[in-house]
Amino acid sequence: MNYNPPPFPATRLRRLRKAPWVREIIQETHLHPVDLIWPIFIRTPDLPSVIESLPGVTRLTIEEAVVSVREAYDLGIRAVALFPCVQAKSKSLLAEEAYNSDNLLCQAVRRLKMAVPNMGVITDVALDPYTTHGHDGILDAYGDVDNDGTLAVLVKQALCLASAGVDIVSPSDMMDGRVGVIRKALDEASYQQTAILSYSAKFSSSFYGPFRDAVGSKSCLSTKDKDTYQMNCANGEEAMREVALDISEGADMVLVKPALPYLDIIANVKKTFSMPTFAYQVSGEYAMIQAAAHQGWLDEDAILYESLLSMKRAGADAILTYGAKKMAEKMAQEA
Ligand code: PBG
Repeated sequence: MNYNPPPFPATRLRRLRKAPWVREIIQETHLHPVDLIWPIFIRTPDLPSVIESLPGVTRLTIEEAVVSVREAYDLGIRAVALFPCVQAKSKSLLAEEAYNSDNLLCQAVRRLKMAVPNMGVITDVALDPYTTHGHDGILDAYGDVDNDGTLAVLVKQALCLASAGVDIVSPSDMMDGRVGVIRKALDEASYQQTAILSYSAKFSSSFYGPFRDAVGSKSCLSTKDKDTYQMNCANGEEAMREVALDISEGADMVLVKPALPYLDIIANVKKTFSMPTFAYQVSGEYAMIQAAAHQGWLDEDAILYESLLSMKRAGADAILTYGAKKMAEKMAQEA
């Protein structure tokens, strides 16, 4: 950028801040309901709705989700991301429930696509809601997460979700090669129209705690972390390599997660690859806002808006946020 403004007093940047009308005219970034994707936890009716570590978010039964998703659609939200919270008896070492075509998630997808057909439905392709050990993949004889063994299960899970009618599958486990094998399997099974949103740069973050409570994987995981597959939080260049590989394997959209502490990654990914780039404001980010708001220390709506706007300014085309519906309601009131 060749930018040489004449110095003060010829240049006065405050001139364009003097009143709302001019501030609005020159505003560079805007947030709309269509930018927001709403993650929803789906539960079986016997499981509790309250998630202690994630105030303001509840697990919904399929029928509760139908009502809420219809409302979200009417508010302008155009996609939801569904995560299952299943009973302990549905979890196993090899995560067989992940590809049971009548599992909770498949039932939810079928029901939602019937009830609100124009709402885009996204689901994770990862095994953590279904493994007794809480890891995203299956374990080898040494207890390590087995990359290639996991790929075979992910393929079955993706096909199962595609046949239930999901619009977008989201590989979220950071196994090497997963996007390629899933794309190939979908194409061979005539699911060419099922899109892939890859969690390309997913960091091994401490911000996922409340999510792991919500899907019931944290108690299984105990003190173990996911450092052997999720990325080192220190690495920005490696994130570019991850994104490049996922694009080469057929990802339609790429995602960076968490969001606010990783705005540099979002900006660099968008600039470098010009791909549809999503950000995930994860559970810990949302919980921090809720906690401070409940203390009366921060204004919840203002902080949420500013955080989401920052992600768009950094380059995100859309943002997954637990506050999607609340934010869209607020926007509707102000419009
Ligand atoms: C697991 C998955 C995680 C999230 C989305 N998919 C957690 C993890 O990697 O342990 C986190 C989302 C959030 O914290 O809101 N495949």
